[in-house]
Amino acid sequence: MGKFQNEMRERWNELSKINQMHYIASCKTDWNEDEFFESGKRWFHNKSIIEYIEEDLDVSGGRCLEIGCGIGRMTCWLARYFDKVIGIDVSDSMIERARYYQDKFQLSNVDYRLSDGSHFDGIENDSIDFVFSYLVFRHIPCRDIIIQNLKEVFRVLKPAHTFLIEFRLDKGLLMAGNRYEIIKNVRKLGILKIPTVEWRRFNAFNGAQIQEKKMKIILTEIGFRKFDFVHFCNDGYFVWGIK
Ligand SMILES: C[S@@+](CC[C@H](N)C(=O)[O-])C[C@H]1O[C@@H](n2cnc3c(N)ncnc32)[C@H](O)[C@@H]1O
Repeated sequence: MGKFQNEMRERWNELSKINQMHYIASCKTDWNEDEFFESGKRWFHNKSIIEYIEEDLDVSGGRCLEIGCGIGRMTCWLARYFDKVIGIDVSDSMIERARYYQDKFQLSNVDYRLSDGSHFDGIENDSIDFVFSYLVFRHIPCRDIIIQNLKEVFRVLKPAHTFLIEFRLDKGLLMAGNRYEIIKNVRKLGILKIPTVEWRRFNAFNGAQIQEKKMKIILTEIGFRKFDFVHFCNDGYFVWGIK
């Protein structure tokens, strides 16, 4: 695993130990279990994810991949729509807890797996009917890792099948989440010497932003043949795309 992937894992393990449910859904600090899982269901409906799955996708079973499943808040709702849901997450602490809830809620069609944060090892090419991710890409700290994840989405999706992924809405280059990109570019120019410690400890919570214009170029270059953007709140947007 590369140093950035390690950094992501360490950071999410750390947050998971401080206040797991809060760092998954930060609108509350004192979630109880029922409210927390109910919020997954509510957001499924509020953000029209469910309408999208039911009306626009012909999923009728099949295999779903959820990137950044956390402790399974959204996974357990996805499991109602698909024959199988694979939930991957970079944090072992999150995966351990997700498995605890999998037993508790008796989810027999869910398979939780630890990932390196960039690659979907063990998931075959052209094998997934639907890829979903919510509140994850907004935290990925550098564009290279975001792009690597999108390449993997393309690799594992069956032809003509769809992904729905939420991203941080671009609020300008100087936003905290762009710190890593700024440091990378300043280092490239060679004007300022950025301390190595700062360079290494990039921010594994506030993610890099990608403007829609840039996102269109990235998705086209990867090979997605159709995609669109859905704005649902003031700091995030969904991208859906078809392989
Ligand atoms: C804010 S939580 C959201 C969890 C879940 N999607 C939800 O809405 O309940 C972000 C999750 O993504 C995971 N994560 C962060 N970066 C990741 C990456 N590059 N690949 C896989 N998981 C990642 C974190 O460990 C954490 O569990």
